[in-house]
Amino acid sequence: MTAVHRVLYVASEAYPLIKTGGLADVAGSLPEVLRQQGLDVRLLVPAYADLLHGLDTPSEAVAELSLEGDTVRILQCFLPGTSLRTWLLEHPSFSARAGNPYHDDSGAPWPDNAERFMLLSRAAAAISTSDTALAWRPDILHCNDWHSGPAIALAHLAPLRPRTVFTVHNLAHMGIFDRQTFDRLGLPSLLWQEHGLEYYGQCSFIKAGLVFADEITTVSPSYAREICESPGGMGLEGLLSQRRDHLTGILNGIDSQTWDPASDPHIPTPYDAGTLGGKALNKAALQQQLGLPSRQDCPLLGFVGRLVEQKGLELILPVLEDLLDTPAQLVILGRGDLRYEETLQALASRRPDALSVILDYDETLAHRIEAAADIFLMPSLFEPCGLNQLYSLRYGTVPVVRAVGGLADTVTDASGSALEEGVATGVVFAQPQPDDFLRAVGRAVALWQQPAVWQAVQRAAMAQDFSWQRSAERYLELYRSAID
Ligand code: ADP
Ligand code: GLC
Repeated sequence: MTAVHRVLYVASEAYPLIKTGGLADVAGSLPEVLRQQGLDVRLLVPAYADLLHGLDTPSEAVAELSLEGDTVRILQCFLPGTSLRTWLLEHPSFSARAGNPYHDDSGAPWPDNAERFMLLSRAAAAISTSDTALAWRPDILHCNDWHSGPAIALAHLAPLRPRTVFTVHNLAHMGIFDRQTFDRLGLPSLLWQEHGLEYYGQCSFIKAGLVFADEITTVSPSYAREICESPGGMGLEGLLSQRRDHLTGILNGIDSQTWDPASDPHIPTPYDAGTLGGKALNKAALQQQLGLPSRQDCPLLGFVGRLVEQKGLELILPVLEDLLDTPAQLVILGRGDLRYEETLQALASRRPDALSVILDYDETLAHRIEAAADIFLMPSLFEPCGLNQLYSLRYGTVPVVRAVGGLADTVTDASGSALEEGVATGVVFAQPQPDDFLRAVGRAVALWQQPAVWQAVQRAAMAQDFSWQRSAERYLELYRSAID
């Protein structure tokens, strides 16, 4: 079997350097775990202004690359808390712009996103296929989501190239730009074809990864199946089912140090499966922090996530007041679409007795909600993997999820037989209807009212192992077979 030595892992965000969602959690964990397994892994991310400001260790410039008229610098640092060599791509379009990596404060995409992420892709391809001042070339180029899709296509066109792996974290974001933009980017015109970046008359960056990668992965086995069919494939199901033999679903892991209720520095009272009483103290502390009535006689429901359609807001909003009347309290933490933010804010001012809405991005509060809530709501319409239900399981916060994607793969419904066998870890419902969701929450609340049953579910949830080791082994196997 061929030994795998070098991997270039490319992502548009990586925790703790910069994070907007689960991709950052994955890119901040998996490469380091692979490194610990003996690979020489380098992580490449853009040097956003906010990222550079947040660095507490110095980075040094290790190379300058000329990319089709642009000059970029590569700064090197270690991913905080790890020994993972991380390369930061410095260019004014990243480094001289504060704020979100992808959009301005009003939520509008940065107008030069195509150019910015083409630079990321060109840099990744250059490092992978030519002699650069880095004096290092990977055996595997591993790209993630649309932001680095074109790197795979560019590498494919080079005379000497590494094997390529492309991971889909969310097919809903395709990196779509118009024909003029494609022309302006100066890509080889042969890439403008159905078996290329062309997507219904437009240009799609994600297609570059899907068409040309030696191996495609996505972040759960169920999502791998769903995207080969309509509607999950979102128009790409034909391409994906043609490539089915090279498409693998590998479940995400979680960083079990960052998300450990027994040692979490963000929560007032650490606890484990043997000291579940700690949750009540965390609940009381959060109620006080958020100004909710101090009640232990009804469950506290939690939601943390982007306030977008994907996360099931259309299922939650129509029945939100019914949920509160169960009775229950609900804490919602998230940023997202203005229409959802406004509706939630209006509801919160009507029901301060039971609803707290925090329209923010707050890492500490996310941990506190996981520790304090009894039940976690994740009724997603689709969910490639989902990390919050995994954090919830670890924190004994019983998740209510829809049977879709990674949610279906990680939560076992509290059916009569699952409860009897002691394997139930949550409540799962099927149809994307508000009433079905409400009934599922009702089932969870009914279980919560039976402390012995509830604690058994909590303990089964907390005993699940979603650490990265197993998933990292699967990536290692995939790298090996790509090289063979
Ligand atoms: P997605 O990547 O689709 O947004 P995931 O469940 O995979 O969904 O990951 C979301 C990650 O982002 C989790 O780590 C979650 O805790 C975090 N997150 C989302 N919204 C917020 C927020 N408003 N404040 C803090 N953390 C958040
Ligand atoms: C995406 C998906 C989410 C997944 C995350 C990390 O943002 O929406 O389901 O957990 O990527 O892979």
